Amino acid sequence: MNIAILTGASAGLGKSFFRSVTARYPDLDAIWLIARREERLREMAAGSAVPTVVLPFDLTDSASYETLSARLAAEKPCVKMLINNAGLGQLDNVADSDWPTQSRMVDLNCRALTAVTTLALPYMAAGSFVLNVASIASFAPNARMTVYSSTKAYVLSFSKGLREELKAKKINVLAVCPGPMKTEFLEVADITGRSPMFKLLPYSDPDKVADRAVVLAAKGRAVYTPRLFFKFYRILAKLLPHSLIMKLCKT
Ligand SMILES: NC(=O)c1ccc[n+]([C@@H]2O[C@H](COP(=O)([O-])OP(=O)(O)OC[C@H]3O[C@@H](n4cnc5c(N)ncnc54)[C@H](OP(=O)(O)O)[C@@H]3O)[C@@H](O)[C@H]2O)c1
Repeated sequence: MNIAILTGASAGLGKSFFRSVTARYPDLDAIWLIARREERLREMAAGSAVPTVVLPFDLTDSASYETLSARLAAEKPCVKMLINNAGLGQLDNVADSDWPTQSRMVDLNCRALTAVTTLALPYMAAGSFVLNVASIASFAPNARMTVYSSTKAYVLSFSKGLREELKAKKINVLAVCPGPMKTEFLEVADITGRSPMFKLLPYSDPDKVADRAVVLAAKGRAVYTPRLFFKFYRILAKLLPHSLIMKLCKT
């Protein structure tokens, strides 16, 4: 049984991944959809050409890893692709925030991504891929999004290291590093109307980002940064001191 696992499937980029995967891989035996809002996942499942399994998990809760582990052990699928897309941000200085808000980003963006990947890997084979959603925020620290950018730096670093580990098994790992996209993320992170930088930056179309990322992950690419503007930023962030980058790119 060949399956895809997609986290953060109920909104934004996750829905775009769902459209891309079901269109490009109509022969999959199932796509497992993970997010908290079950109703939304059920609506997606109802209209899907690929059989769909709805897993309404809160990925910040360790119990969801136990349930996923048991389900994988029971069904022993071949996981053709794992798309770790679930994530959240928060625009605020750490000192003006509270620990549950700040640590939730670590729990979802890092801990859950690591747990789900580790659980899925034994069920992946040559030709499978892991696609991790990082961000342009992974290239350099961003004050006012300090924890978010740190979590995405983890995702990028984790993806590169894991890719090296899995080369011999012919399993690719791709990190996609998008700039801003008009999704619920902006409201959840309390960015809308509070960041001049987010008003200036060019936005990406989530459908295009997801589809290209799926294609490149299957082709064996390591990192995908949509838009020339952000490819240039990625190079700048490698060349310039991060103290300067943080002054130039204030969120
Ligand atoms: N939008 C941007 O500007 C932007 C830019 C760069 C990178 N990204 C990254 O892109 C990814 C997708 O974000 P998006 O823009 O599509 O945001 P979004 O519209 O807010 O979607 C986030 C998804 O994550 C799920 N999620 C949130 N908390 C969860 C939890 N505790 N357990 C399980 N699932 C959870 C949400 O579903 P439920 O609420 O139903 O659980 C939703 O499906 C994230 O990793 C984000 O960091 C976004």
